[in-house]
Amino acid sequence: MSKIKVCIFDAYGTLFDVNAACRELSIEVGEKWQALSNLWRLRQVEYTWLRNSMDSYIDFWKITGDALEYAMDVLDIKNIELKNKLLDLYYKLEAYPEVKKVLIALKKEGYQTGILSNGSQPMLESAVKNAGIESYLDKILSVEICKVYKPSKKVYELVENKFQIEKNEVAFFSSNAWDMHAAANFGFKTIWINRFQGKLEKLPGKPYAEVKSLENIIKIL
Ligand code: LAC
Repeated sequence: MSKIKVCIFDAYGTLFDVNAACRELSIEVGEKWQALSNLWRLRQVEYTWLRNSMDSYIDFWKITGDALEYAMDVLDIKNIELKNKLLDLYYKLEAYPEVKKVLIALKKEGYQTGILSNGSQPMLESAVKNAGIESYLDKILSVEICKVYKPSKKVYELVENKFQIEKNEVAFFSSNAWDMHAAANFGFKTIWINRFQGKLEKLPGKPYAEVKSLENIIKIL
């Protein structure tokens, strides 16, 4: 991948551990904590797609709260205090252990780096700060700029516009198969961080490479 100049990362599930909030409160949530985490994430993502189709954008923080409320309703967890604590944790969501080390290594090699995410700008900045990685990211790009969610092409175009770069000079990393397919279809060199042992979707766009974590991505570039 010799032409690559910019490395772009999806945020949730790729840099930040989407299970961290429910896991941290697993004693309070009880045995349903993993089910809650899964349904919360599923609805969060589905609501972005549905709102794209309905042409009815609201920011990702509101969607995150709505999805949690729905998931708690379905699983019959009635606890407003717990809901607020989970949201507080999600706001500064924990990064995966290898993230900081990998970003430092990429900067050392001279790559430009950035985040491209559905997350609202304040959510992303809060998680980035909490992970102590703000010095190793050139840009944090939120869909707030274009007010439409992935996988709209308008989102991936933000990278071209804001970095003033050609598609084929971008390596895009995502753990979300659908995001990876869409970014590859758009024209980025895309690496699937298959953290959850998923299968390829039956969608256009194929990953250039597939790995289990961000640990060794520098060898692929
Ligand atoms: C994001 C979601 C898709 O960060 O994980 O954009």
